[in-house]
Amino acid sequence: MQVGVPTETADGESRVALVPEVVAKLKAKGLDVLVQRGAGERALLPDSTFTEAGATLADDAAAVWASDVVIKISPPSEQEIAMLGKGSILIGFLAPLTSPQTTRALAQAGATAFAMEAIPRISRAQSMDALSSQSNIAGYKAALLGAEHMGRFYPMLMTAAGTIPPAKVLVLGAGVAGLQALATAKRLGARTTGYDVRPEVAEQVQSLGAQWLDLGLEAAGEGGYARELTDEERARQQEALTEAIKGFDVVITTALVPGRPAPKLVTEEAVQGMKPGSVIVDLAGESGGNCELTEPGQTVVKHDVKIVSPLNLPSSMAEHSSQLFARNVQALLDLLVAPAAGDDGQTGPSKLQLTMDFDDEIVSGACVVRGGEVVHAGAKAAVESSGGGGA
Ligand code: NAI
Repeated sequence: MQVGVPTETADGESRVALVPEVVAKLKAKGLDVLVQRGAGERALLPDSTFTEAGATLADDAAAVWASDVVIKISPPSEQEIAMLGKGSILIGFLAPLTSPQTTRALAQAGATAFAMEAIPRISRAQSMDALSSQSNIAGYKAALLGAEHMGRFYPMLMTAAGTIPPAKVLVLGAGVAGLQALATAKRLGARTTGYDVRPEVAEQVQSLGAQWLDLGLEAAGEGGYARELTDEERARQQEALTEAIKGFDVVITTALVPGRPAPKLVTEEAVQGMKPGSVIVDLAGESGGNCELTEPGQTVVKHDVKIVSPLNLPSSMAEHSSQLFARNVQALLDLLVAPAAGDDGQTGPSKLQLTMDFDDEIVSGACVVRGGEVVHAGAKAAVESSGGGGA
């Protein structure tokens, strides 16, 4: 059985879906790995590291896409999906709730595809949780960006020239990225505060040495995620945050609701109320941003406040983000591929097969398209509301 790793083609994407360490493990399991030449270069992984780990290199993307199992990070383009072999399996981020065109193309290709972001957030699936591994990196980098753009110290400094008070950092949205941003800002010496609409995270925020900002709003949704606020709740939240944000030097926003535009937490009025030189790092740019003045992918100065909205932050630390993603994929492959008994009743690497037990909630939860049929409820709804067709 052959696993293919194509070069990522999305703008600004430096990661690679498998790293040599994981290639070696897959080889030991009995899988062949075909890597597109140059696929790891932007993640500081030259071709030689892949061949040393036992991979074969291919110049031609089409050869890699024709593998039995293709591993990607960024959602594939429709042209890439068209290269998938009949009966091939695709594993990667597929944006099932927000990219119906990807789902439709996969269905038309007759493929079977597993979306890393659709793996259920359950204990048994923690090792496969690529949303968490990548969000962790984004949260870490967001705290660093806040420090870099602020032009003031994070830590308190007591010097012969007098004392400088610590910076105050507020993190809105205390999921995986938000908690890592709080932890990183704290390590750098800032005074940290966290906020979320899921009250159960208050304890996690406090365990990181941060204060909990309580606005008296609760919006826990399904599967551990937040739900979208009602118009009345949103207005109340914006008003309370406008007041609360004033005293902070850095505001890092990470609030997301799956499949929905990012909630607008920081209004223009709130930005106006911040001190000149303050910084907003908006991690929700890909979903429209948490700040009204955010320009996704840009750094802008509005009312003397710098608003930074980086896209695909994990790609900016491509070596580690690729390594963690590859390990997540390896854990999923362990569930999907198993030695099978041949006609002779013997098992062994040469008899590996895709087991794909669809009674397993991880396998069924992550599967978006199965043999050309869209089987993921959220993906199906997104396809239908975008005009259906082909799925
Ligand atoms: P996310 O990326 O979907 O959202 C980020 C944060 O924004 C969340 O904490 C959410 O509550 C918050 N948020 C949404 N709307 C908001 C609003 N209007 N105002 C303020 N905050 C708002 O979340 P992420 O990081 O993917 O985590 C989702 C859940 O998954 C969490 O409960 C987390 O603990 C859980 N989880 C479970 C794992 C497991 O058991 N294997 C592994 C990782 C996460």
